[in-house]
Amino acid sequence: MKPITKAVFPVGGFGTRFLPATKSVPKEMLTLIDKPLIHYGVEEAIKSGIDKMILITGRGKRAVADYFDHSYELESLLRFKGKENLIADSNRLSDRATYIYIRQKNPLGLGHAILRAEPVIEEPFAVVLTDDIIDSAIPVLKQMMDVYNKTGGSVVAIMKVDKTDISKYGIIEAESQDGTIYKIKRLVEKPDPENAPSDLAVVGRYILSESIFGYLKQTNPDKGDEIQLTDAINLMAQNEPVYGFKFSGKRYDCGSKPGMLEATIDFALKDDALKDTVKRCINR
Ligand code: UTP
Repeated sequence: MKPITKAVFPVGGFGTRFLPATKSVPKEMLTLIDKPLIHYGVEEAIKSGIDKMILITGRGKRAVADYFDHSYELESLLRFKGKENLIADSNRLSDRATYIYIRQKNPLGLGHAILRAEPVIEEPFAVVLTDDIIDSAIPVLKQMMDVYNKTGGSVVAIMKVDKTDISKYGIIEAESQDGTIYKIKRLVEKPDPENAPSDLAVVGRYILSESIFGYLKQTNPDKGDEIQLTDAINLMAQNEPVYGFKFSGKRYDCGSKPGMLEATIDFALKDDALKDTVKRCINR
């Protein structure tokens, strides 16, 4: 089994749910406490043993690329102020991985973004959607890599969702193997809850065979002229093994305001320096 050493981060979306902030700040740079969303995703990949991050960026996303560079101005200012200890912290992720940037010239969907990575990938790889912050004892990508090593197939992260939320997600039709691993027969993007094949939704972590690129090329754009990753994975599931994996951990949809708020409160409650402030504010 080829090891997973590369993770693709598609960061080309507009982030309309966070307008007006996202007019000039990329969604991936919105902060959860004191770190941008992209930081959490990259940190999870590094902790899972991945050391090559492929960021699919687009117009207005320079701040994302800058974040993983060393900042000489900042470093000299911190030295001048006697705060050298903060330098290592700010460079921690920069030094622990190689960053490859590819431009998505037009935002034609998540599937289109992933296809941009084809020139630098020849083996199975991970995909991280940075909107989804997953708090877990074992990094979710690591959990998924273990499933990949066990099954040899592609793996998508899944979770049970309320009926009212089914139409927001890609939903799987699958056979349970052992309660956490499901062999996927079919995937449907944003189905009507009444006709949905299950209540198991795909969330933003994937381990994909490199054959996904071929399926993406066969995938037609949807009504909104976007190429959907879900449609390509559905095609893949008709031809080779694709597994859904119910991960351990709590997922927050930080691409939405309620999700970002809930994550902020939960993360602050776990932080000794902030928990009393949060409790005081909530009890007002
Ligand atoms: P979303 O569906 O969340 O879209 O994209 P969005 O534009 O980021 O946000 P909203 O819904 O308008 O608020 C899912 C993922 O796919 C990436 C996004 O950056 C996000 O990580 N994406 C989407 C691309 O990289 N390129 C695209 O053309 C579309």
